[in-house]
Amino acid sequence: MTILTLRGVGKRFGGLPAVDDVSFEVARGQVFAIIGPNGAGKSTLLRMISGLTTPSTSEGIWFEGTDLTGQRPHRIRHLGVGTVLQTPRVFSSMTVLENAALGGIFGSARRRAQTEARASAMEQLALLDLADKASWDVDALNLHHKRLLDLARALAGRPRLLLLDEVMAGLNPAELESFIAVIRRVRDELGITVVWVEHVMKAINALADHVFVMDFGRELAAGIPAVVMRDARVVEAYLGRGAVRDA
Ligand SMILES: Nc1ncnc2c1ncn2[C@@H]1O[C@H](COP(=O)(O)OP(=O)(O)OP(=O)(O)O)[C@@H](O)[C@H]1O
Ligand SMILES: [Mg+2]
Repeated sequence: MTILTLRGVGKRFGGLPAVDDVSFEVARGQVFAIIGPNGAGKSTLLRMISGLTTPSTSEGIWFEGTDLTGQRPHRIRHLGVGTVLQTPRVFSSMTVLENAALGGIFGSARRRAQTEARASAMEQLALLDLADKASWDVDALNLHHKRLLDLARALAGRPRLLLLDEVMAGLNPAELESFIAVIRRVRDELGITVVWVEHVMKAINALADHVFVMDFGRELAAGIPAVVMRDARVVEAYLGRGAVRDA
């Protein structure tokens, strides 16, 4: 069953197309990876789904049948779409639990009572192995744990679709393994669909059910990872321009 459909989605910056006539469908329960060289338009595409960037053209961005085109980010979040970007958004001078609870209070349509939000946040922290740090000052967390906390906050809003942009960039090998396991749990145990922009090929190969490759704002190739990664056009787009950041 399809949870997200894009048709004819595009974005121009100063007349130059960053995303050009992109269409795809995401099946419920999938990890749908979007890859491509630097500047291919991946983040712009993701930001259009989350409402952070307004499309220049769109026949539709349908989430469970509702067109998200032109809707504001908080409305899209309330409809059930969570977003985690490369730079973690954490509120300083608050504890880890207080940060996570903000997702439950502001992330969903129904404003939950503080206590309910905290209980829900505690559940998400446990799922992400952050429960032992619940009372820590958020500024004491490293990048890996800040990303996990941002994810916990997105999950506290109970999304059915999660948008991730390069959440594995800059992690060491052990942190990478742990983050891969977390995304797998999000898909398999919580049943959340994941649309994920990433450069870390090891993680893509370990997790992606479907890969959508972009180059110059357009679709270059799409399909299962084993086939797409061997596509001559994909190899050329990466290796030909030396754009792979990770082995
Ligand atoms: N706010 C903006 N204003 C002007 N140009 C922009 C803006 N955001 C992105 N662009 C341009 O749009 C194109 C696509 O950028 P985008 O960030 O979507 O690429 P990306 O695939 O995410 O790249 P990377 O892998 O480096 O993150 C680039 O040429 C970029 O310079
Ligand atoms: Mg990007």
